[in-house]
Amino acid sequence: MIKFENNFQLDTAMKNLILSMIEVSEYLNEILNYTEKTLTPKMERELIKILQKYHVPHNNLKYDVKKLIDNPYYKNIKLDDVRTDTVWYEKALIKKRTLMSMNFHKPLGKYLFHYHPVGYFENDVYLPVLKEGEDKVWMSPAISEIESMNVGIQKGHGKCMTMGLGIGVLPYLWLNKEEVESVTIVEFNKDVIDLFEKYIRPQFPKNKKLEIIHGNGLDYYNEEFLNQFDYAYIDFWESNEDGLEYYTKLMEKKVYYENIDFWVEDSMLSDVKHIITPYLNTLYQGKSIAEYISSLEGLDQAIAKKANRYFKSRNHIIRTEEELLSIIHSRAILREILAQ
Ligand SMILES: C[S@@+](CC[C@H](N)C(=O)[O-])C[C@H]1O[C@@H](n2cnc3c(N)ncnc32)[C@H](O)[C@@H]1O
Repeated sequence: MIKFENNFQLDTAMKNLILSMIEVSEYLNEILNYTEKTLTPKMERELIKILQKYHVPHNNLKYDVKKLIDNPYYKNIKLDDVRTDTVWYEKALIKKRTLMSMNFHKPLGKYLFHYHPVGYFENDVYLPVLKEGEDKVWMSPAISEIESMNVGIQKGHGKCMTMGLGIGVLPYLWLNKEEVESVTIVEFNKDVIDLFEKYIRPQFPKNKKLEIIHGNGLDYYNEEFLNQFDYAYIDFWESNEDGLEYYTKLMEKKVYYENIDFWVEDSMLSDVKHIITPYLNTLYQGKSIAEYISSLEGLDQAIAKKANRYFKSRNHIIRTEEELLSIIHSRAILREILAQ
């Protein structure tokens, strides 16, 4: 079992880690009063004060609308005709100065604080949305979707593969890159494929191979399939919340490649850190691990059990804050914990 030296430095580090977890929820609560609202200059000043209080970058609240309207998918792909039994097109108006989430959360500082990049456009902007049911936005090339896929967009080269077709934003942006040779997509939902084939694919470039495989990404996440590609981007969840369960299942397959990225991985790992840190703190304080584990439910509990299995099999002693943080923030260790 991993052990700790009890010392002042680790006392402080543990306290700071737990405090930073509390700070995140306080920050999120404060921000909530402003998101989706039209910011008056007074509200903007108040918001900036909150962001400053938490050391969150605030100099780019005004988002350059070009990031959206110059995006090739936004510019070239028209979704106006989409109408199936369940999904239809709407032109949504984003009113000027409406504060929106512009990306998924990002880590900030050396402990567990993270923030949601927020911002607004200075002018009214129209966004195509595909809606399902009364109010539910099914899919849309929103700025947060595009920004959060940025790593995948940039890194795509050669033979690319993605899991999760959606409305094909990433495949389109890949096909438009010179260094991309072909795109393969694994998509689970036949209706999504049919909608894409009928309304969206005809607008895609035809000079490169675009293959869609109807199947479950989990079944295709194996060495034989993955080895065929130069780069893969896995994106078949809706947010970090449902994503963590899928991501855990993928990690359990123990297939690690440098050339695979996962949509909103940092956000999902941040949730994992919020389970592992109290686990390590419980251990550090000499309190009952069984009690900590049973205080959790569902996936959180399963992850705490995985952490327990992982740390039980280690036998080194943590003496410094640096050592502690290097465990908590290590992508490789977090992935290995989930793989247990
Ligand atoms: C968020 S969307 C992907 C968006 C896409 N990256 C884009 O650029 O438009 C998620 C997609 O994953 C699909 N999906 C859900 N579960 C899946 C699974 N197990 N395997 C493959 N695709 C799945 C959904 O039907 C949906 O089309």
